[in-house]
Order: sequence, then C-alpha cells, then structure tokens
Amino acid sequence: MNRKNFLNNMGVLGATAIISPSLLAAESKEPALKNFASGKKIRVGLIGCGSVSNVYLPHLLKSPYAEVVSLCDIKAEKAEKAAKKYQVANWYPNIEQMLKGVSFDLLINTTDMQEHGRLNRIAILAGKNVWCEKPLANTYEDGRELLDLAKRKGIRLWGAPAVVNSPQFAFMAKQINEGKLGRIAAAHGHYGHEGPNWSAFFYEKNGGSLPDLGVYNIATLTGLFGPAKSVVAMTNVITPTRTTGNKGEVKVEAEDNAQVLFDHHNGVLSHIQSGFNYFDPYGHAGTGQERPTITVYGSKANMHMIGYDWKPLGVDMATIDNPKTQRYLTEPGTYVWQEGASVICECLATGKEPLINVEHSLHVLEIIEASRKSQETGKRISLKSTFKWPMV
Ligand SMILES: NC(=O)c1ccc[n+]([C@@H]2O[C@H](COP(=O)([O-])OP(=O)(O)OC[C@H]3O[C@@H](n4cnc5c(N)ncnc54)[C@H](O)[C@@H]3O)[C@@H](O)[C@H]2O)c1
Repeated sequence: MNRKNFLNNMGVLGATAIISPSLLAAESKEPALKNFASGKKIRVGLIGCGSVSNVYLPHLLKSPYAEVVSLCDIKAEKAEKAAKKYQVANWYPNIEQMLKGVSFDLLINTTDMQEHGRLNRIAILAGKNVWCEKPLANTYEDGRELLDLAKRKGIRLWGAPAVVNSPQFAFMAKQINEGKLGRIAAAHGHYGHEGPNWSAFFYEKNGGSLPDLGVYNIATLTGLFGPAKSVVAMTNVITPTRTTGNKGEVKVEAEDNAQVLFDHHNGVLSHIQSGFNYFDPYGHAGTGQERPTITVYGSKANMHMIGYDWKPLGVDMATIDNPKTQRYLTEPGTYVWQEGASVICECLATGKEPLINVEHSLHVLEIIEASRKSQETGKRISLKSTFKWPMV
C-alpha cells in the first residue's frame, strides 16, 4: 500500500481530516539508547512497595536485563518487608535517602498517583532514568516539563501502560495500517470495576478512574488511530464516599465515572468509558473476562479485542470477504501488562528503542486533563500534543 492509499483508508483525505506530515515523521529528540547502552544488567531502584510492586518485582527478578538493588517506601516497614520477601539488599524510607544510598540506573515509580510527578522530578534531577506507573505527572504541563528536564540531563523517561506491546495490539494496528478495515469511522473502549479498596489516593484529587483505568483504553485507541485533536467528556462521582484500607472512610473527589469522546487527526471518532462503579465478576486480576473491550468499525471490516486491552486473549474480525467472525491470536504469548519496566531494562541494556514512547504517554495525560476540563466547562477541548504514529 502506498502512502496515499494508507491515508485514504484512514480518512485523512476527507474534508474534515487534515494531518500534519510532521505527525507521521515526528522524531524524538531524546538521547538515543544505543549511545548509552552498556550491555550490563540495569540497576533498578523501585519506589512504592504497595499492591502493584508485588506484580512488578517477580517479573523484574526474572529478567536477565535487570538487577533490583534497592526498594523504598514512605512507610519504611513496607520497604523493609518487601526487601526481605524479594531478597533485595537495600531499602530506604524516602527518596532522598534512596538517592544517597546504593547507586542505580533506573527508578521505577509505583507510588500513589499524586506523588508521581514530584518524585520523578527529584529522580531526574539526580540523573536517573525513570519508568513511572500511570500517570507520569498530575498535569500535562508538569509531564512536559519533566520530559524537557530529562532531555537536558541526557536521560530517559517512560510511563505505563504497556498495552501497545501486546501482539493483539500489533495485529489490530497492522490490519488498520494495511487498509483491511477500509475507511474507519468509529471505535470504542471500556474498562471498569468496583474500584480499589486498599488505598484512598484512587478517590482523592488527581486520582480517579480516568488515570487509573481509562488510561489503558485511551492509550490503545490513540495507539491505533493516532493523536486526537480534541475531546468532549462528561465525568461525575457516583459513590460519594468510600471505605479504604489505609484511611478508612474518605470523600470521593476524583471522577469515578467517565465518558470521553475524541476525534483523531484522521477523522476517526472514538469513545472510551471507565469507572469504579461497574459490577465486575472478574476481580482485580480480570480473570474470566473474555468479552470484547475494544471495538473498531470500518467500511470493510469490524474488529474486536477480546478481554481487557491490558490482558488480551485474542482478536475477532469479520470482513466484507469473510463475514463470519474469525478469532486470531489466542495463543498465550510472553506479553503481560506488568512487563513495562522489565522491557525498559532490556532496552536500556541493549540500546533497542521500545515501542512505548513518552510523547504518547504525555498525549494520554493531556486527554485525561482535557476530559476534566470539558466536564468543568461544558466545552470541547482542543489538544496540542502529538506523538510518532503509526506506532507499529
Ligand atoms: N494495584 C494494581 O494492580 C495496579 C495495576 C496497575 C497500575 N497500578 C498503578 O500503580 C500505582 C500504585 O498503585 P498501588 O495499587 O500499588 O497502590 P498502593 O497504595 O498499594 O501502593 C503505593 C505505595 O506507594 C507508597 N508511597 C506513597 N507515597 C510515597 C512516597 N512519597 N515515597 C515513597 N513511597 C510512597 C505507599 O506507602 C504505598 O506503599 C498507581 O499509579 C496505580 O494506578 C496499580
């Protein structure tokens, strides 16, 4: 397929869709990994020894590219306990002591969402590469400043989620890019459950279902269709108080219910919904969720990702030539959602550029912020960020 056909299939030549050539060619000015890849194991310091660290650490400990040298938690006993459990030699009660302690190459930030930006800045100023759980910062402007700072320091910054790494995402992107779906009009993503009950930060200001759950679908749909130009959203709070493991009953300040509509540069209109009030028989691990959560409609085919986009189990596709739905990519591969930091260790060690890209993370963060602004103002909000696309 030539470029004209590709753009035509994506609706780029339509009256309402204008794409900047720089969008397709945009190159990052971040330092090339190959220039500082050492071939040695990457020394890792992980901050935030809570729920997600118990999924990250076993994966990192199996990686031939990572050596976990230190752990840190503001609740020092959690760091100490995790250090014993995972046999990590050093643990610290705060980031300042961690940075003064045993040296490391990559900070993995799995703390409360509200702390990400502040801790990432301290680490970057100290010359550490950073992999951060979502979101990278509380606001797009803060995230952008972090990236500028990282570039000035000659180091790298990345953010979860890792959904673009799945073979199912790659398959869908390939069908789209090869024009198999014809002219694509619309797509949808949904992800929700009954809400986490262990920590209050999910419900406090700058928490919410959008940065915790919606973020996956936003990363998937922008990954498939490219940067969005603008956003219209409605968000609200369905459950006004929550009982949490660490703070007891708290007032819910961040949206626990969100519907976001965006228009991509190529004219595709897509929509995601996320929430902490969805009856969910699949539990936090998503076991048994075998229904589509991402759906794409084109003039020549439709396509559905089976299971959550962070834990896909296959892709269903029906085409004009083969209208009976066929399921692809059902074999379990090596991809798991918690692989992001391990993949970054591999990339730092070998010099290979990862698919995950910080400009994409910043775009997703801008969409989350714009969604809240749209709710506050009742208006459609324009976006300024873009990222290198197509991704696959
Ligand atoms: N829990 C999951 O399954 C899961 C899955 C994917 C992503 N995430 C993301 O991971 C992040 C953490 O979530 P969690 O569920 O593990 O939360 P959690 O509350 O279980 O763990 C967070 C930990 O960070 C520590 N912490 C907070 N501020 C700190 C600071 N300034 N310095 C050092 N430590 C600090 C807390 O004491 C706590 O132990 C969030 O961004 C969340 O969205 C969680």
